[in-house]
Amino acid sequence: MSKRNAVIVRDLIKIYKLGQVEVQALRGLNMNVRKGEMIALIGPSGSGKSTLLNIMGGLDRATAGSVRVFDTDITNLSPGELVGFRRGTVGHIFQNMNLIPTLTALENVELPMAALGIKEAERKRRCAELIEVVGLQERMNHKPGELSGGEQQRIALAAALANDPPLILADEPTGELDTENARIVVQYLRKINQELGKTVVMVTHDPSIARVADRILRMHDGVVQADVAPTTGEARPADYGEILRARITELDATLAGLDSQFKAGTITGDEYVERQTRLKNTMEVLREELHRLGIVH
Ligand SMILES: Nc1ncnc2c1ncn2[C@@H]1O[C@H](COP(=O)(O)OP(=O)(O)O)[C@@H](O)[C@H]1O
Ligand SMILES: [Mg+2]
Repeated sequence: MSKRNAVIVRDLIKIYKLGQVEVQALRGLNMNVRKGEMIALIGPSGSGKSTLLNIMGGLDRATAGSVRVFDTDITNLSPGELVGFRRGTVGHIFQNMNLIPTLTALENVELPMAALGIKEAERKRRCAELIEVVGLQERMNHKPGELSGGEQQRIALAAALANDPPLILADEPTGELDTENARIVVQYLRKINQELGKTVVMVTHDPSIARVADRILRMHDGVVQADVAPTTGEARPADYGEILRARITELDATLAGLDSQFKAGTITGDEYVERQTRLKNTMEVLREELHRLGIVH
């Protein structure tokens, strides 16, 4: 196991059985997440993003393949061990606010700590600290119904941090928010990634949200189809376009090289098709990004 990786996923397969019908949600997925990295997972609905996150978080079990999270192969854990893993290692945030409506913001953040048997004084101290991290000191005695959607997600974020887990999984955390609140929530996710050193895997539909991450992984049909490094375009949009364009030109050259390798017989037809598909997918993502910036390549 590499010291650099927080998560290593190998040949992950997940098949759901619905009576006679089998749904293959993951089809041999491979990915790595480095320690301290923030990843955005994008891809069409039904491509397996939630399934992947749920397996990574110990909520669901793989059919085959392996998932290592901070040196533990979670595919081999017993149900009891999996509960322990989940409590200590993972903070999970979902699209639908998972706060308890009858509890205050503070009590919602405190709840997961009680499960670990942390003493009350320590709980209160940590809760106040976490609520400050998400900037809601003034709101901590409010119930979820008295908070905006964005504020509720920030409290959900604080609750996910309650037990100081090294890995934060966020499944469309901004899916139900307006643009402004979505931006604020993802900035807090980025903050806990950068300032608290948490490794973050976030699923999102929104390219402008995905760009906040260190790396974007695009899923399609149960596998990772492309891996893109978004440079932070915000500060220097012109340069960002240049970088994207240069990368596309580079990929074009690689593609041409691949053609000659195939013609010369130095790679097999399967290798050719596989590499070509991967290159073309990456180029497609880069072109979409250029298009989004309003630059035509
Ligand atoms: N509990 C389940 N039982 C049966 N099929 C499921 C279940 N969960 C997900 N699926 C199927 O697995 C595929 C991937 O789903 P999901 O991981 O939710 O995708 P995404 O989050 O990318 O939209 C879909 O075809 C979905 O219908
Ligand atoms: Mg989903």
